[in-house]
Amino acid sequence: MHNDIKKVVCIGSGLIGQGWATLFAAKGYGVVMQDLSEDRLQSATEQVALNLKFMEDNDRLQKGEATWAAKRILTTTDLAEAVKGADYIQESVFDDYAAKKKVFKQMDALAPSDTILASSSSGLLMSEIQTVVARPQRCVLAHPFLPVHLLPLVEIVGGGQTSLQTVQLTCNLMETLGKIPVRLKKEVSGYIVNRLQAAVLREAIDLVASGVASAQEVDTAFCTGMGMRDPFIGPFLRAYLAGDGIQSFVENYSESYRLRWESMATWDAISPLMQDTLVKSVNEMAIVRQNSLEKIKNWRDKMLMEILKLDRSCR
Ligand SMILES: NC(=O)c1ccc[n+]([C@@H]2O[C@H](COP(=O)([O-])OP(=O)(O)OC[C@H]3O[C@@H](n4cnc5c(N)ncnc54)[C@H](O)[C@@H]3O)[C@@H](O)[C@H]2O)c1
Repeated sequence: MHNDIKKVVCIGSGLIGQGWATLFAAKGYGVVMQDLSEDRLQSATEQVALNLKFMEDNDRLQKGEATWAAKRILTTTDLAEAVKGADYIQESVFDDYAAKKKVFKQMDALAPSDTILASSSSGLLMSEIQTVVARPQRCVLAHPFLPVHLLPLVEIVGGGQTSLQTVQLTCNLMETLGKIPVRLKKEVSGYIVNRLQAAVLREAIDLVASGVASAQEVDTAFCTGMGMRDPFIGPFLRAYLAGDGIQSFVENYSESYRLRWESMATWDAISPLMQDTLVKSVNEMAIVRQNSLEKIKNWRDKMLMEILKLDRSCR
């Protein structure tokens, strides 16, 4: 494992793989995108070109750089060819252990022995994936967020056999991309953000399924309430500010939180009935009824650009 990373390989060119390819190319790395079919690679290449153009139009790349960045990306369906001479590989195939293990075993056999093998998984444990490789010390999780080329966070966590050097080098590489790596002290299913999202989503679904509010009302409440502060205030700073510091928050709000927690949902699977209510309610939301999925994604990216312009440091 070494610091001098020049060639990066993105295995899987779906939503996440194409986002990684966009970002690596934008930051000057030579990139190879690999997938199972030429068709997938063709549509990923088209999307990467749009992503790069969006970055250029929003001053994330200098004028004319998008075209050059796109030229840094090669594509192939041949895994052995893709990983030849790779310094860092970012895997973004389907999110199940069988698929990840198959690809990790192949990457481990075909890539140079010191190449870092990182997974984009949204919740699987590296300790389990790395059981199938001969060099588990170089395997790490680097979990990004959509859209990968715009959102800064990446969660980094090794498995039981991952070396500290692999984790550190991956954090360093992420910083060169302008990402903010948050390093977990130990593995847990779903890492940090997806656990928080899962908690909020369960309660949101429950509020809709139990008739308290529609999907539209829940989303409006979220976005105009806690969501307004979310871009710069996390749950702990919010609690700190809700009282006169965290000690007073704990003293004053423990009982009201206990009552909320006591009455909150604890189910761990969406029942068929809940599913029907959820699908109907989300499809009735004005933004969903009036716009295509593509249009909503473009709007999300434009809104994100505005939020990213904020100076979120407290001075
Ligand atoms: N979608 C998200 O919001 C999100 C966010 C963060 C992380 N992730 C994680 O990123 C990974 C990819 O997610 P996605 O949303 O891009 O999925 P996707 O379905 O859009 O893309 C997966 C791609 O992997 C390719 N693929 C499958 N098996 C392959 C193989 N053996 N070799 C090469 N390519 C192969 C598929 O052809 C497809 O193009 C998953 O682990 C997912 O959990 C997803």
